[in-house]
Amino acid sequence: MFGYRELLCSLLLAAGAASRWIVPGGRWLDTDGNRVNAHAGNVYYDEPSGKYWLYGEYKTEDTPEGGGISAYSSPDLVTWQFHGLALDPEEQMVSPSEVVQRPKVTYSDISGLYHMWWHADNENYTALLQGFATSPEPEGPYSFVSATAPLGNWSQDFGMFTDYKSGETYALYSNGDTVEGRDNYITRYNANVSELEEVVYRFPKFDLEAPTIIQTEKSYYCMMSHKTGYRPNNVVAFRADSLEGPWSQPWIIAPLNTRTYNSQSGYSLRIVGSKATTYLYMGDQWDLSSIWDARYLWVPMNIDDDEGDLSLEWHDVYDLNVETGVVTPIQGQTYYSVDAEVSGDAYHQEANFATNNSIVTGIYGNESKVTFTGIEGSGGLQWVSFYYQNTDDMGFGDQPQGSPDRIGGTWKIRRIGSVIVNDDPSTLETLYARDTHKGIILSTPLQLKLEQGSHNTITIGGLNNSVEGNIDFQGPDIDRLIVYPPEPAAGEARKHHGQMEEMYCPANCRSHGLAICDIPGLQKFHQGGGNSHMGGGWNSAPWEQKREHGR
Ligand SMILES: *[C@@H]1O[C@H](CO)[C@@H](O)[C@H](O)[C@H]1NC(C)=O
Ligand SMILES: *[C@@H]1O[C@H](CO)[C@@H](O)[C@H](O)[C@H]1NC(C)=O
Ligand SMILES: *[C@@H]1O[C@H](CO)[C@@H](O)[C@H](O)[C@H]1NC(C)=O
Ligand SMILES: *[C@@H]1O[C@H](CO)[C@@H](O)[C@H](O)[C@H]1NC(C)=O
Ligand SMILES: *[C@@H]1O[C@H](CO)[C@@H](O)[C@H](O)[C@H]1NC(C)=O
Ligand SMILES: *[C@@H]1O[C@H](CO)[C@@H](O)[C@H](O)[C@H]1NC(C)=O
Repeated sequence: MFGYRELLCSLLLAAGAASRWIVPGGRWLDTDGNRVNAHAGNVYYDEPSGKYWLYGEYKTEDTPEGGGISAYSSPDLVTWQFHGLALDPEEQMVSPSEVVQRPKVTYSDISGLYHMWWHADNENYTALLQGFATSPEPEGPYSFVSATAPLGNWSQDFGMFTDYKSGETYALYSNGDTVEGRDNYITRYNANVSELEEVVYRFPKFDLEAPTIIQTEKSYYCMMSHKTGYRPNNVVAFRADSLEGPWSQPWIIAPLNTRTYNSQSGYSLRIVGSKATTYLYMGDQWDLSSIWDARYLWVPMNIDDDEGDLSLEWHDVYDLNVETGVVTPIQGQTYYSVDAEVSGDAYHQEANFATNNSIVTGIYGNESKVTFTGIEGSGGLQWVSFYYQNTDDMGFGDQPQGSPDRIGGTWKIRRIGSVIVNDDPSTLETLYARDTHKGIILSTPLQLKLEQGSHNTITIGGLNNSVEGNIDFQGPDIDRLIVYPPEPAAGEARKHHGQMEEMYCPANCRSHGLAICDIPGLQKFHQGGGNSHMGGGWNSAPWEQKREHGR
């Protein structure tokens, strides 16, 4: 039987070859056309190979934890080549029944080896150790060295930071959930990065996790998330002149209640280009119902050292030139749900936080759908961002360990939309719409093949989203779509980088820390000045809010 799964596969394969842009939350494919499978890891730039190396947790549907640590390499942070498992889950403290989380790799000049560290634990999270393995090659295989308690203490979520000025490397770790723990440590390694030497700072009793530090000329910014398991929350940052502190009060780095655009912190990267220095936030977009299908949420950070401020700068789709360091947002064409046709029980509902004061709700199964018409396509694959709302679970707030409803329901976490182009069922794509806070509209992308011309239709229905026997076919509420141009062909990419900058980044390209272009025509289109009724006022595409606040 040749079903939509096979069709989907060939579609995805074609997509793999074309990936030139960074699309936060999209299904990223490697050069073989498989999903990039390296979660909660790090990216290390390796001078000898001239490549960026991505390491992370290898997750499959059958083995969502303990599957080992994978390695990928890339010349440009977009094209990823898979090198297999760098650390195989067969050895002590790395068996599939044990916890192998948040791996980080760096190179030791002293040993001449690549050193990998991670959170090593037993199935019950009671060992709280740090694993260590080495390899003469960046891709591995890494040989297990040890799993130890850092300076005799507990270690849970693990991060690593190398100071570009001093060359020193530090381990970052939360120290567990016990009443005695709940601190976060910055601890210096020896020069060999083979042993921890000294605690340089302890964030007291913040009970945060998923730590990463980004360094600027003047500052260190430490980002961490709250502890809400695989449900995202509002990530915070602290600033300091020195790793030893004093550290500032924490603040929230993304628009309030977007839960950091549905992501958790994990790593960050400083890219020094010929024109600009760009700071990348590299978060994980978990999906509690399918951890193995977690996405990557990489977006530039806007850092203002004078104000001591750091915030994420959202783009649905952007070009990152690692040579110049310039970030170029890609401009798309917006289609509003107020103009779309509804069927069955789907209807346009008043929503003062939505575009045109209106959102399409009641999307369900095959019968109740929304269809966008008159969509212009170019005859190839194009990224389409679906701006949606889904307030099933944590719509009431962000309480960790909160229950989905007060009468003992189950977590639903996401709805799955069905997306069909031009009424052709073989084009079916699954739109995973993760839970959002009330009044918050977020976007999630899919790559679709549109025909050339302006006659395309995109229809959204609901698919089976069975969680713990709780069967539902509800689709997300839809605000609008943005259709992006096709990505440049692989061979064209380098050349295209330059063109892109001229096309979208003319004279008004500014560069203070982050190089970002002012794109004409992107203005906030919702009224609601002040938005005091919305607690943070997040209601529209991120850049729109930024522009309004004059960033
Ligand atoms: C550096 O670390 C490696 C890996 O543990 C070890 O084999 C080597 O002996 C260490 N070298 C020194 C000089 O400490
Ligand atoms: C984990 O907890 C279970 C249930 O309490 C127990 O049977 C098992 O031995 C524990 N495993 C370890 C490695 O402590
Ligand atoms: C272990 O961590 C706790 C909590 O951070 C701290 O109070 C204690 O001093 C640490 N113990 C050692 C041996 O470092
Ligand atoms: C939707 O349509 C498909 C194919 O026609 C069918 O197999 C499926 O049962 C339908 N689902 C619902 C919820 O009606
Ligand atoms: C929905 O999915 C669940 C889990 O895969 C399955 O058990 C159930 O039969 C499905 N229901 C329908 C109507 O397709
Ligand atoms: C919906 O909002 C957009 C953006 O402000 C505007 O261009 C468009 O005309 C509006 N559509 C309707 C039907 O009001």
